[in-house]
Amino acid sequence: MQPTDQNLPLIVDSLQVEESQSIESPGEPAQPGFRSASIHFVKEGKEVVAANGANLRIKAIENGVDLYTFKGKLVNCGGYGQCGTCVVEVVDGLENLSPRTEFEARKLKNKPETYRLACQAIVQGAVSVKTKP
Ligand code: FES
Repeated sequence: MQPTDQNLPLIVDSLQVEESQSIESPGEPAQPGFRSASIHFVKEGKEVVAANGANLRIKAIENGVDLYTFKGKLVNCGGYGQCGTCVVEVVDGLENLSPRTEFEARKLKNKPETYRLACQAIVQGAVSVKTKP
């Protein structure tokens, strides 16, 4: 069908129907595998949207958030859980991170439960973190 002035309203109506059927329509069940997570970096005032399952350290680096103190910049292990310099304090949404790893249990044994190594933390929902606590 060639668009003409007469059938243009029909075409516009069909486009509106397609828009209302998008995956973001309220009431439509969420599609598995497409969940997103958000990370709020409190000190930096940055809100980052990430895929569910994203690594906290990688998302920080990708978004220009500095995790490391001066010493950490010199000696960090590159994300292998060995140096303990990527520590963050989770101020909200601790339940939306993966459980502490063995590396974290060792490196953070004298720190509060809310402290995590960013390189070991997998984001699974909304979290707020403070860098360099
Ligand atoms: S970067 Fe070394 S422990 Fe996270």
